[in-house]
Amino acid sequence: MSQIPVIALNDGAKVPQLGFGTYKIDPDQTADAVRTALEVGYRHIDTAQMYRNERGVGQAIREAAIERADVFVTSKLNNGFHEPDDARRAFDGTLAALGFDYVDLFLIHWPLPTRYDGDFVSTWQTLEEFKNDGRARSIGVSNFQVPHLQRLARETDTTPAVNQVEVHPYFGNREVRDYGHEHGIVTEAWAPIARGTVVDDPDVTRIASAVGRSPAQVVLRWHIQRGDVVFPKSVTPQRIAENFAVFDFDLSDDDIDALAALDKGEAGRTGPNPDRFDNLHT
Ligand SMILES: NC(=O)c1ccc[n+]([C@@H]2O[C@H](COP(=O)([O-])OP(=O)(O)OC[C@H]3O[C@@H](n4cnc5c(N)ncnc54)[C@H](OP(=O)(O)O)[C@@H]3O)[C@@H](O)[C@H]2O)c1
Repeated sequence: MSQIPVIALNDGAKVPQLGFGTYKIDPDQTADAVRTALEVGYRHIDTAQMYRNERGVGQAIREAAIERADVFVTSKLNNGFHEPDDARRAFDGTLAALGFDYVDLFLIHWPLPTRYDGDFVSTWQTLEEFKNDGRARSIGVSNFQVPHLQRLARETDTTPAVNQVEVHPYFGNREVRDYGHEHGIVTEAWAPIARGTVVDDPDVTRIASAVGRSPAQVVLRWHIQRGDVVFPKSVTPQRIAENFAVFDFDLSDDDIDALAALDKGEAGRTGPNPDRFDNLHT
């Protein structure tokens, strides 16, 4: 664990810069995958109500006999629960499923600007309650665009600690990252290896050969050197270990620029555009 840098959040908490993602890990496979990750040394696990695998995350942490304080656990409010009473019930459900009395970080998963009469402000104020009562050590958002962040800044008292958004060499998400840098909001880069698609890219494989590392390691290292938080997902033990071994080499500024130049703008997204995404049932 000690080899993983920590990033300071705007509320004084600290998050390990590299964690383990759990999207699309089958609930029945989750405890095994998280156990492997903890054995490798990961101490930051990213889950969500939507993934339906919080129970397996909590189980693996308890069975590993790791102190709760030594693992950073994030979960996220599902899209159907933005109304305050629903959010309160859903958050109770997250803690019950994990089997913990707090999470390190709780996020609004999607802003859903075309739902709930465009109101994500009352949802955010409900997350402020969870922070104030200590059951969420930090609170943040996910998939928020710049106007959504500006609205929270105008209408609420708490700046999100993080904004978890899609970022990888094919989708730089520059405006959102820049806004975060300027306002003390840490960017967490989801789909850091573009769901596996970036590992065959000729520029990525060229740099990987030159530095003697795998393509996934090179792309994860790129994120780390740019200062973002990442949590690659894998159910493959060899890859879980490979993705963790990214702290004993450096990329040159030219390599970093070459990977940033792969940005395809909107065409590079693997996921939906948050301005339009409105699915309550995922
Ligand atoms: N907030 C949000 O809306 C949001 C959205 C998406 C994701 N996330 C979070 O971000 C995490 C990461 O994103 P993601 O899971 O979408 O995508 P990702 O981590 O970029 O990619 C995962 C895919 O890459 C493969 N892979 C993993 N390591 C590899 C390696 N070393 N070499 C080649 N392929 C490799 C995995 O296959 P195997 O598993 O078969 O090994 C899997 O198919 C998620 O798990 C979740 O925690 C958040």
